[in-house]
Amino acid sequence: MPADLSARAHAAGSAATTGIDASAVSTAVEDLDRLVLLGIAAELHRATRLGAPGAHRPEPAAEDLGAAVRHRWIVGHWLAALHEAGLARRDAQGRYHGLHRPSRAELAVARTRMENAAAVLGYPPALAGMLLRSLRLIPELLRDEVGVQALLYPDGEPATAEAVYRDNTVSRYLNLAAAEAVRDLAERSPRPLRALELGAGIGATTADLLPALAGRPVESYLFTDLSPFFLDVARRRFDAPFLRYGLLDLAGGLPGRPGGLDLVVAATAAHNAPHVGRLLDQVARRLAPGGRVLLIETVREHAQSLTTMPPALSPREGPGPPPRHDGRAGTTRTYLTRAEWRDRLARAGLRVEADLPPDGDPLTPLSQRLFVATVPMEPS
Ligand SMILES: C[S@@+](CC[C@H](N)C(=O)[O-])C[C@H]1O[C@@H](n2cnc3c(N)ncnc32)[C@H](O)[C@@H]1O
Repeated sequence: MPADLSARAHAAGSAATTGIDASAVSTAVEDLDRLVLLGIAAELHRATRLGAPGAHRPEPAAEDLGAAVRHRWIVGHWLAALHEAGLARRDAQGRYHGLHRPSRAELAVARTRMENAAAVLGYPPALAGMLLRSLRLIPELLRDEVGVQALLYPDGEPATAEAVYRDNTVSRYLNLAAAEAVRDLAERSPRPLRALELGAGIGATTADLLPALAGRPVESYLFTDLSPFFLDVARRRFDAPFLRYGLLDLAGGLPGRPGGLDLVVAATAAHNAPHVGRLLDQVARRLAPGGRVLLIETVREHAQSLTTMPPALSPREGPGPPPRHDGRAGTTRTYLTRAEWRDRLARAGLRVEADLPPDGDPLTPLSQRLFVATVPMEPS
């Protein structure tokens, strides 16, 4: 087992971080979160009873907004985040009061700070633009008149989706580090690689992994997602003889036989499994000894994604939140923490070889991580 995989993957990823102002990253992350929280608070004041005296439950406020049944849970999720940020108070009965009312001047300052923050974090204008658009469209999003796909693909163009999942500093770092782990695996694999990617979406990570496989023996790379839309996009985007495409719901089982895979990739996708521990157990069984799983995950409930992530998660048939049967059961949490991922990987019998970026790295405050874990070789 390569003891230095973590160092090499980090070095590969660091090509993306030259020039980053390390001292500005934490504040930039806070500024992005702050703008979204203030924007939500302003909209709740404008359109709901939450600004009126007294204590209020989230459900009537969701009705004030005309929220679709499947999205009503989101208002409670937002209020909990506002409470955690000190922007609303909650009584023992779970009712909210004292919601902060941002002034126009405060919102203008927050917007300027967000634009500076986006520059610090290497977010292209399309990403900052999507955040602002999502705040303007809160009522339409909650009423289900606008979908998250329309935010990610304005006018059918992929630039915004690329900005979110690929064309920014931390995504570049994580994808390059992941590619190094794949290159390393392909080099030492005793057989042509058999790979499965879960929730592959727009293929933002795939696009960096495929070059790492170029010229190396690959038996198959199965690109999967819940949505046929993404499979169509990927068919047009990629061209490699070993690529296959398939629909796969993380709520169901994984295809294939025990030991029939060498690589499983899930980039910002594995948290969609209703039970992450069960998913990782299945992954571990599908992987051959020496096989590797690569997870890219957000490990904190970011405020910056509050207007885009929850509407994408509400079950079609409602009411939300999405069903979770693991440690998130009974909560509206989307993500697991870093410690929870490490624990779930270990419980599945997988050995964590890389958990990046390393502590103290300028990118750590972004709370997006790459985990690389391996099925130990059988004792000979
Ligand atoms: C945040 S995006 C991932 C982006 C993608 N990995 C990329 O690099 O472009 C999450 C992806 O997970 C997919 N997804 C959501 N729920 C899923 C489920 N239950 N099973 C499989 N895929 C799912 C979505 O369709 C979406 O493409």
